[in-house]
Amino acid sequence: MSASTSAAAPAAAAQDPADRRAFVRTTIDLGDVLLRPWGREAAEQEAVLDGLVTAAADPLIALWNPLATADRSDALAWLEARDGGWDRGASASFAALAAADGTLLGGFTLRWVDRADGLAMIGYWLLPAARGRSVATRATRAVTSWGFRTADARRIEIAHAVGNEASCRVADRCGYLPEGTLRDSHRFGDGEYHDEHLHARLAADPEPTA
Ligand SMILES: CC(C)(COP(=O)(O)OP(=O)(O)OC[C@H]1O[C@@H](n2cnc3c(N)ncnc32)[C@H](O)[C@@H]1OP(=O)(O)O)[C@@H](O)C(=O)NCCC(=O)NCCS
Repeated sequence: MSASTSAAAPAAAAQDPADRRAFVRTTIDLGDVLLRPWGREAAEQEAVLDGLVTAAADPLIALWNPLATADRSDALAWLEARDGGWDRGASASFAALAAADGTLLGGFTLRWVDRADGLAMIGYWLLPAARGRSVATRATRAVTSWGFRTADARRIEIAHAVGNEASCRVADRCGYLPEGTLRDSHRFGDGEYHDEHLHARLAADPEPTA
């Protein structure tokens, strides 16, 4: 199913017509999954705060995509930081929610690495119960298309530890071509530096079909 989008009232940073590279709060509808901008108001839902705490404790997330949400207070601060990213148009951070009942599934973030140059990076995590259903692939494809279409991204990158095969597969399935291996490029949740695979998509690259 193709994704549909609905933009909220433009953030302050997006009101400058010259700034075509501000991310503007938008909900992306994947049918069974909604990608909704993270924000402070999510903190009113205790289940969301608890979901973030649970996510931080998951071994795979703690290893490959550590979240600073060890308790509810940290989760609230984390949500405020996501809101700030949207306010500045600097990062687009989405909660993936089950459309049926609002259950938290995961998170997807597109952020500028070099906004003036149109270079962005995407990252993602899913709670264990949400894995293995192509949610990561579908959501990453949708956020990628949205970033190219609405924020004038020129190039979007995915970097993942060489040992993170699931993330490698998501990148491949989303049309992010492999570009090589970065040596000891990032310190992950185990405190060790790991080599990473760099993948990227250019705005002019074709949409993945299969
Ligand atoms: C990465 C992550 C989001 C992928 O979630 P997912 O639900 O497996 O994603 P999808 O269902 O879209 O599957 C993607 C592909 O990876 C494959 N895959 C899943 N786990 C795998 C594994 N351990 N080894 C190899 N391939 C794997 C799936 O079979 C699927 O391939 P297919 O489309 O050819 O069938 C999830 O594993 C996760 O949250 N990991 C912890 C956080 C993390 O690693 N974030 C990324 C940091 S770069």
